[in-house]
Amino acid sequence: MIDIQPIEWLGNRVKLLDQTRLPQEEVYLELSDYQAVASAIRELKIRGAPAIGVAAAYGIALGALEIRTSDREAFRRRLNEIIRTIAATRPTARNLFMAIEQMEQAASLDENTEQLKGALIYQAINIHSTEIEATRRLAEFGAELLKDNATILTHCNTGSLATTGSGTALGVIKQLAQQNKKITVLVDETRPLLQGTRLTAWELSRANIPFKLITDSMAGYFMSQGRVNSVIVGADRIAANGDTANKIGTYTLSVLAMENGIPFYVAAPVSTIDLALSSGKEIPIEERNPAEVTHLQGISIAPEGTLALNPAFDVTPHHYITAFITEKGIIKEPYIERLKKITG
Ligand code: MRU
Repeated sequence: MIDIQPIEWLGNRVKLLDQTRLPQEEVYLELSDYQAVASAIRELKIRGAPAIGVAAAYGIALGALEIRTSDREAFRRRLNEIIRTIAATRPTARNLFMAIEQMEQAASLDENTEQLKGALIYQAINIHSTEIEATRRLAEFGAELLKDNATILTHCNTGSLATTGSGTALGVIKQLAQQNKKITVLVDETRPLLQGTRLTAWELSRANIPFKLITDSMAGYFMSQGRVNSVIVGADRIAANGDTANKIGTYTLSVLAMENGIPFYVAAPVSTIDLALSSGKEIPIEERNPAEVTHLQGISIAPEGTLALNPAFDVTPHHYITAFITEKGIIKEPYIERLKKITG
């Protein structure tokens, strides 16, 4: 079911599908140094929490390959600098830091520097295949939860582009379509960077799954009209109590869903859960360049000098979330105990 490969490891280079050029152009980049991978993550050429984690892991592996010393301590010092650069790219997605922790574990093995390079590459490939398998499993669980005749609203892009697997929320939608379930899909634009319009619409078109595009501000109207019976979104970081950071606008959708008696599902791999944070208040929210709001694809749409705000994510309090769809099954309240159990 995965026909899109946003990230591919080529042995000494990483190949990325440049998501800023979609849907107009399908351009692949071949990057051979970690700084280029860090820039690609920062500039959203590769994006979506699980895909960021995978790209980060390959970026660290590339950085390790560039280190010339055979002294283990010097190797680890240099690797730490590389890791710091990768860690500073995007603050919100838990998967980035989960990947970094797993790469640090690989680097701590009692091996010589050549063996450590091999261990880092092996770990990055492992992180990649784990994410692919996680979305495959969670899509199956999600498709069991959502019955026939689902009219689904989804936000941002949570498909292959964002996960390297079939997707989280979009993976569930693809799975339902594959099972020939009758579904209606509404995709919202996801301002300011239009991941819905550009990326989700592209993925669904390629998969021949019918959908309708709506503006973000139409969501409440369609919910109040009874034209949405489930909302499914992805997640960038889930705190221990279930509070969830996801693309800006998710919180608004969750409140509208509750107001209209519509279940609100968060689909995410376990790698997105951060038990170190007790609530969503502790999740760091990325602030991006205001030009992403005042400009559309590089063209200014606001009067000269307009000041804009641009938080990239918001936090949905756990009580708005009907259930989490994970590769370990469907998780309902009480979240504190159950999220802890599945991450163990
Ligand atoms: O800024 P982005 O495009 O990286 O944000 C992506 C999202 O918010 C997704 O919903 C989230 O990463 C989950 S993707 C499986």
